[in-house]
Order: sequence, then structure tokens, then C-alpha cells
Amino acid sequence: MPLLGFHQARRAPLSRWQRTVQALSWPRPGGMLLSAAGAAVVLAAAVGVQSAYPFQSTTAAPAQRSPEPAAVAGNGPASGAPPVLPTAAAGLAAHAGTPPSSIPGGAPTTAAPVPPVASGPQAAAVHNMSNPASVLVLVNKHHPLNPLDYQPPDLVTPNVPAGPGELVLLRREAAAAVERMFAAAGSNGVSITVQSSYRSYATQVSLYGSYVAQKGQESADTSSARPGYSEHQTGLALDIGDANVGADCEFTICVEETAAGRWVAAHAADYGFVVRYPPGLQAVTGYLYEPWHLRYVGTAAALDMRARGIPTYEQYLGLQGAPGYK
Ligand code: DAL
Ligand code: ZN
Repeated sequence: MPLLGFHQARRAPLSRWQRTVQALSWPRPGGMLLSAAGAAVVLAAAVGVQSAYPFQSTTAAPAQRSPEPAAVAGNGPASGAPPVLPTAAAGLAAHAGTPPSSIPGGAPTTAAPVPPVASGPQAAAVHNMSNPASVLVLVNKHHPLNPLDYQPPDLVTPNVPAGPGELVLLRREAAAAVERMFAAAGSNGVSITVQSSYRSYATQVSLYGSYVAQKGQESADTSSARPGYSEHQTGLALDIGDANVGADCEFTICVEETAAGRWVAAHAADYGFVVRYPPGLQAVTGYLYEPWHLRYVGTAAALDMRARGIPTYEQYLGLQGAPGYK
């Protein structure tokens, strides 16, 4: 029996047409390789990754921000100037402790909480980045969850539309924020759905394994996190879709052009979410552009990032990029 991912196990059998479009989509568990055309589009979004680092995305990241700067308590005024590299890096280097294990399934990081090195939401983020129970936890290829099989304590099901067969689970605070965000989008005539939310370590074992089996590890690592390294395991991440757009658009960069994709790009920060994997920044985040993947970090950090034009959470924390596993 082939490995089945979280979504596939819950979904009704697909029509031949659905299976065809699914094969073109990312990241359909049990799906096939990206088509040549689809891959070309996705890869095009990543062109210039190296030269773009640390701050300039080559494509649409600036346009994603809401035109009105957000005021954040305890934070400086918004500025249209290029963001300044946060000064937290030195503090992190001094206080972060042992680097995370490079081996999935290996010893977890022993990194200690980092003392605040500045004031405001950025300092809070730096302070909490190693705490898996914090909404500010950083999870990427250099920073696995600790423990690797971490389970969030307060998963609930928000009252929001979901994709076929999806059981939506998020941590309580993120779930409440999703309800507010979807309601606001709805009042603007935009119908957002949740296509994936919390995924356990075991689910990610199956999901990631299915991609490796289908595409090989190198390709899988550009779009699927290894177990213990996925934001979905925190209960703070969700993948969105547009209820008025066909399934062929789910988990593809086409989401960017949907009403839902445009709306979250402009407004998600107002509800504490960031589009976590922006275009052209694979060298920082480790992943190709995912306009559907939102991460809850709370309004203070999300609004601060938007106001200061900082596109990724790594950059907000003053960290080096995490393009690959150590
Ligand atoms: N698609 C994102 C990177 C994940 O698997 O968590
Ligand atoms: Zn996701």
C-alpha cells in the first residue's frame, strides 16, 4: 500500500480530471512529480534566490504588503526605507547554545531561550524563538522542534470552511485568529478555505516520505519539511485555498492570483499571520514560494514585519538563511 498523506487519507476518491490536475499541484500527498510546465513556473519564482539574499525578493514580496503601514505598540514608526538587518544576530550567536541537530530523528537542539536584545516585538520573537510552545517559535531546516515529536497542548477546531474531508486543527490562539481573518475576508466577498493545518510528527513522516519516494529527496526538500521540521507540527500554520477556485489551483503558485491569495497577502498580518515562504527567498527559508502557507506569529510580530518590510521570519530574527539541513 502506498504511503498516504494527511489530505489524501481523508479525501473522497477523485475524478479522472481531479487526478490530472492534482498531479500538477504541490504538495498533493500521493501526487506525482510537478509537470515540466508547473516546475518551470515554480522554479522561475526562485530565480535570483542567491543574489536576492538577504532582503530583496526578486518578485512580488513588496506588493504583498498592505499600503497602509501598521502602528505597533512599543515599536518605531513604519518606514518605506529598506529594512535594516536586525542587530539580534550577535546576541543569538552568544546565547543560542548548541546548534540544532542536523539529523532528522537525531538529538534535539538544546538551545536555551535567548534574552531580549532590543525592545518591542522583535525582541520578544528573538526571546521565544526556541520555545516550541510559543507562537513565536522558529521552525526551519536549521531549527527543528524540540522535542522533534513535539505536540501542541491546545489544538481546537476553528469554525471555518475547510477543503473536502479536512479536519482543521490549530492551536487555540491561532484558531481564534483564523476565525477573525476568514470572517473579515468574507465580509469583503473573499471565501478562504483551509486545505491543511496541524500535522503531527507521524503524519509528516508519511507525507515527507511519500514525496521522497515520488520525487527524490533533493526535490522533496524544496517543498516538504522533514518530520520535526515542519511549521504544521506547531499547530500554528495553515494552507489556504479559495472556495471559488478549482482544486487544480490548490498548493500551486496560482493561489497568489486568487482572491483569497491576494487578500491574505495584503491583510493576513492584521490577524497575526505571515506568508511564510515568499517568492525568491528559498536561500533564506529553505522552500520554494508557497503563497498558500500562512504562519501565525501574533499581531505584534506580523505587523512589525510588514511595517518594516521584512519578508521572512529568519530575517526578522537576524538569522542566517536556512537553505538546507545542516
Ligand atoms: N510545505 C512546508 C514547508 C511543510 O512541509 O511544512
Ligand atoms: Zn503549509
